[in-house]
Order: sequence, then C-alpha cells, then structure tokens
Amino acid sequence: MGTIAIVSRKGGSGKSTLATNLASYLARRNDSVTLGDLDHQQSMRVWLSRRPSAAPRIVGWLGDSGGLARPLIGTQHLILDTPGGLHGLGLAKVVMAADANLLPVAGSVFDRESASDCWNELRAHPKVASGRCRVAALGMRLDGRTGAGEITEDWAASVGLPYIGALRAAQVYVRAVENGISIFDMPETVTQVDRLQWLPILAWVDPVLGQGLNEGGPTDTAQASARVVPLRPITTAPVAPAVAASVGSAHPAGDSGSSSGPPWLRWLPGFLKRRR
Ligand SMILES: Nc1ncnc2c1ncn2[C@@H]1O[C@H](COP(=O)(O)OP(=O)(O)OP(=O)(O)O)[C@@H](O)[C@H]1O
Ligand SMILES: [Mg+2]
Repeated sequence: MGTIAIVSRKGGSGKSTLATNLASYLARRNDSVTLGDLDHQQSMRVWLSRRPSAAPRIVGWLGDSGGLARPLIGTQHLILDTPGGLHGLGLAKVVMAADANLLPVAGSVFDRESASDCWNELRAHPKVASGRCRVAALGMRLDGRTGAGEITEDWAASVGLPYIGALRAAQVYVRAVENGISIFDMPETVTQVDRLQWLPILAWVDPVLGQGLNEGGPTDTAQASARVVPLRPITTAPVAPAVAASVGSAHPAGDSGSSSGPPWLRWLPGFLKRRR
C-alpha cells in the first residue's frame, strides 16, 4: 500500500480539495483507493456522503493516528487528509505512516511562512532525512494574474523544498467538492486547463505510490511514471506534456484572462520542460 498524506499547518490551504481530487483520479483508473481522514471536521466523510453512486468507488476511513501503523487490507493507495496545525507527535505519526507528504501552499506570505515552519519540522524527521518519506510542495489556489506561481516556486527553492507544480484558483474545484466529485469526474471541456496543471503533480505522485516505500522492495521509477494514465476519463487519447505548450493561447474555461493568457500559462510549459 502506498500512502500519501496531505499536510499543511495552515487552515484552508486546500488539503481536502487536494486529497479528494487525488483520490478520485486514482479511483478513476480503477485502482483501489481509501481516503483517510484524520481531521475532526471529517470533510472526507462529508464529501464521500455526497458522492454519486455512479462515480468510481472510494472507500472512506475515519482514521485515528494510532491506527495508522496498520496497513488497510485490499487498498492499493491511502490518501490521507489531515487537520490544520498538525505538528509534534501527530505530525511524526503521519510521517511514519506515509510514503510521501504533499504540502499545498496558497499564495500569501503567511502561507509560505507557515509552510516553511512545517517543512523545517518535517526535514528534521529521520524518515524524511533518509528519503524514506518524500516531501514536496505545490502551489494551491494561485491567482495566475499575480505571478504567485513564480513567487511560490522561488520560495520553495529558497528553503530547499521540492516544488512539483501549482493549481490555479478555479470554481470547478468548489463545484466539485459541493457534489462529492473531483475535476476528473467532470467534463473535460470545463476542466482541460486544470487537468494540465495536474500533470507534473501526478508524474511525481505516481512513482511514490508504485514504489510503496513503506513496504521496501525495488523501485522502477520509469515504469511507475508510465502508469500515469491520460487525464481524459471520458475519451482515451493521452494528453502529452507538449499539449501544455499548445494551449498557451487558450483562455482557461470559466476564469478570466488577458488577451495573451494568464501568466501561469506562459510559466507551465517551461516548468514541464525543466522537469523532463
Ligand atoms: N484550487 C482551488 N480553487 C478554488 N477554490 C479552492 C481551490 N482549492 C481549495 N479551494 C477552496 O478553498 C476552501 C478551502 O479548501 P479546503 O477545504 O480544501 O482547505 P483545507 O486545507 O482542507 O481546510 P481545513 O484546514 O479547514 O481542513 C474551500 O472552500 C475550497 O473549495
Ligand atoms: Mg480540510
């Protein structure tokens, strides 16, 4: 079982949104997925209770940090939503259970400072320091018109935190949560731009899950990367990274943009290229 925990001390940084979308993406390719919830707000229970019966199945697990040591039978992937403010023993237990921690970081200096504190605590943990639990940040709810993507990426580099991409602020995420679905359950026509933004994130996540670091065993990163399925649950043609460049002149559906497109559209192809 591969486990990815979504961690951020800052409330409202997008942890639950990230967890539901990631779980849903994995379920959509027929993997068995459990969505764990360590947050007393039980956002995952609420989301799952709204989930249409026709949507790909995701098992809910109202976890307690004590139960994290036990792998869940029959589950390929555990995506773990955690409460804001997690630190100390609670954070250490999550690190012990997880193959990776993903830190969503919103666009303000307060969010970045809070994420720096969390990263400093995480990197001191032996499992993180030895590479057995990987950590990465991603920009969340970034407003492309403000250059927030570049600012967040520069901040991550300055603190030595791997940065794997950014998701824009978009109403599709809000609508998806309301309906117990993810952007991957929505028509591609209204989510195309957002699906492209997930590409580098999934390329990072998939080898981690394929690897199952907690279980040990050999790693074939190339093979695991190849398992990143096309982000087109409705059609079958794969979306190659090159497509990101080709949408550079397109307006994101639903959100406003200038005539030359929002700044993140210019930034994304370069980011994808650097990661290759
Ligand atoms: N990319 C996005 N675009 C637009 N809205 C978003 C995005 N990501 C999250 N949101 C919205 O921001 C709000 C907070 O998101 P979310 O609940 O995922 O944060 P959280 O970190 O889980 O919060 P908490 O710390 O309270 O558990 C929600 O209303 C959600 O719909
Ligand atoms: Mg939450």
